[in-house]
Amino acid sequence: MRNPHSFRAALGVATFVLSACAGNGPAGAPPAPNARPAASAAPAQPAAPTPAAAPARPPAAAGASREAAPPDPAAIFGGPQPGTEFGIATWETQCSSCHGNPKVERAPSPDAIRMMPPERIYTALTTGVMQAQGAPMTDVQKRGVAEFMSGRPLGSANAGAASSMPNRCASNPPIADPAAAPAWNGWSADESNRRAQSARGAGLTAADVPKLKLKWAFGFPAGVSANAQPTLVSGRVFVGSDNGFFYSLDAQTGCVYWSFEAGSTIRNSGVVGAVSGHTPARYAVYFGDARAMVYALDAQTGALLWQTRADEHFVARITAGAKLYRGKLFVPVSSSEEFSSGNPGYPCCTSRGSVVALDASTGKQIWKAYVIPEEPKPYKTMANGVVLYKPAGGAVWNSPTIDPAKNAVYFGTGDATTAPAPKTTDGFMAVDLDTGKMLWSYQATEDDVFMGGCNVPNKSEACPEKLGPDADIGNSPILTTAPNGKRVLLGGTKAADVFALDPDRGGALLYRVNPSGATPGEDPRRGGASIVWGGAADSTHVYYGMGSGGLAALDPATGATVWKFQPKAPNANGTSALGAAPTTIPGVVFTGSTNGMLYAVSAADGKEIWSFDTSKTFDAVNKVPTHGGAIASSGAVVVGGMVFVGSGYAVSSGASGGNALLAFSVR
Ligand code: HEC
Repeated sequence: MRNPHSFRAALGVATFVLSACAGNGPAGAPPAPNARPAASAAPAQPAAPTPAAAPARPPAAAGASREAAPPDPAAIFGGPQPGTEFGIATWETQCSSCHGNPKVERAPSPDAIRMMPPERIYTALTTGVMQAQGAPMTDVQKRGVAEFMSGRPLGSANAGAASSMPNRCASNPPIADPAAAPAWNGWSADESNRRAQSARGAGLTAADVPKLKLKWAFGFPAGVSANAQPTLVSGRVFVGSDNGFFYSLDAQTGCVYWSFEAGSTIRNSGVVGAVSGHTPARYAVYFGDARAMVYALDAQTGALLWQTRADEHFVARITAGAKLYRGKLFVPVSSSEEFSSGNPGYPCCTSRGSVVALDASTGKQIWKAYVIPEEPKPYKTMANGVVLYKPAGGAVWNSPTIDPAKNAVYFGTGDATTAPAPKTTDGFMAVDLDTGKMLWSYQATEDDVFMGGCNVPNKSEACPEKLGPDADIGNSPILTTAPNGKRVLLGGTKAADVFALDPDRGGALLYRVNPSGATPGEDPRRGGASIVWGGAADSTHVYYGMGSGGLAALDPATGATVWKFQPKAPNANGTSALGAAPTTIPGVVFTGSTNGMLYAVSAADGKEIWSFDTSKTFDAVNKVPTHGGAIASSGAVVVGGMVFVGSGYAVSSGASGGNALLAFSVR
């Protein structure tokens, strides 16, 4: 275990009054209850390899869950939510005043607690050494903080393994070259994040789509949020779960080849590629978890090839899919720090988002591009002794885009947690593919300093004078070619602006429009149309899910709205918000809804041609209780005549949890 106090000690932090340990900060009460699986013993997570001499390491330790995008603290704290997200508030208000505080001897570092299974943390608070701290807390708070710190639900450790499933595949034939057969390899079928499948890859025509039927369902055991998008390669499904397991299934039958226990939530899509130095070729599947650990597994067997931690900060996590390009893995790093860092007991703020390039064969870091290059330094000690740091923020919630023509990597950036907000926050950044050196950036929203816990009287001096709109760009840049032959790089804002940049002229703004009818560039408003998770593009249109604003098709050359799709009636599971990233095949756009509906609409005019309600129970091939919920963040994947989608998203408001992976086909 590392010295829990090294960071603050190194920075010469002197006073820290223990009264801060009372930590009854107001923002602390996480929302309501949800039935959870019973706790069971779980093995401790092996400690992460520690890169030598990390510079000024931030205080503390933990991770959480979810696929690719920006947190919405209001949503997270606003109502009953299952999932492993909301416990950060409890941590920041009830625990971080001692854990990570050099004055409190013996208190394990946040990092050390992060590596504990949730059962151990929960036990400490209920019957163990932290009973006194746990006494004033509700059971929901105790479970929430335990699950947040570990990054997986209580009781999931033993439940998820393939070895205990009744539907193991009878044989495990050698995996074919992923490039040889139709595939959807990663967050998008290509490295430009167009989320478009070719006619050959789809194996499904617009005329087939109305005939789609559920072929099989797979249930993630003990999972509460099935929002990791599946990857389809060589006839196999590769998919992670918030139960801390990663699975390989057969695409046709859903039989399970293997599972791997990462021990922490996996909410991003895996990506498969050849590992160098093997004849015959061997393939690895790469993904990251809620503790910012990146894994390379043998795609054939699930055996661990290497693992490495992409970032040392205790709240760093990997929520979006990595990109694999020419032997390099580009990993986006996000963070949970902003959820409740306005609490006066929390030493705000030290976490910075980044993209890390790793050697895909070894896991060795090639470069790390921080959204905010400057290291956080102490700038103030508050009356309670808590030291404040800056600059920080700029989480990366989206899968990077590769531009071979410019030898560049593009990604969206999150808001700042300290003032002033750096120019690189809330926008797009372009870095050199070989060195990670910044090429250019575009800021969609200025002065966005945001964190949870600031709208109360007893708040941290870290809170900005004017709280920002929380306008992270959580969607991946879409690199596409408009019908006029011009290349464009597209993104969306939480106010539903769509902006187009010129990748061939240093990211110059081509246009900024708002298909929901608002004025582009206006302050993002809460509750209205919003682009969070991304879009898709084919040769004629770009499609963006705008949440309550429906799905819009735009002309990529001008930004003109061509059509909009707004689902008719809400189903029993609530109103429809089309925020999940859409997917397109020739003639068709698939779009998922927070009420669990999966729609297919015509790419030509937005008319609905098929729908399926996923918010119900399913008889799963692996015989675990399985139900769907919201479709949010991740979207559908279409390969070889089949459509795959995860259902259940226990993160944002209006969304409901679930543990279903569904596969549809016309036969
Ligand atoms: C007043 C300071 C203080 C606060 C507040 C506090 N802790 Fe602790 N915690 C400690 C100390 C000191 C230890 C070491 C106790 C020992 O080893 O006897 C500890 C130990 C632990 C352990 C290790 C138990 C084990 O199995 O080894 C866990 C887990 C833990 N705390 C979780 C929490 C959580 C979660 C919170 C917030 C809900 C919290 N603590 C709040 C001081 C604190």
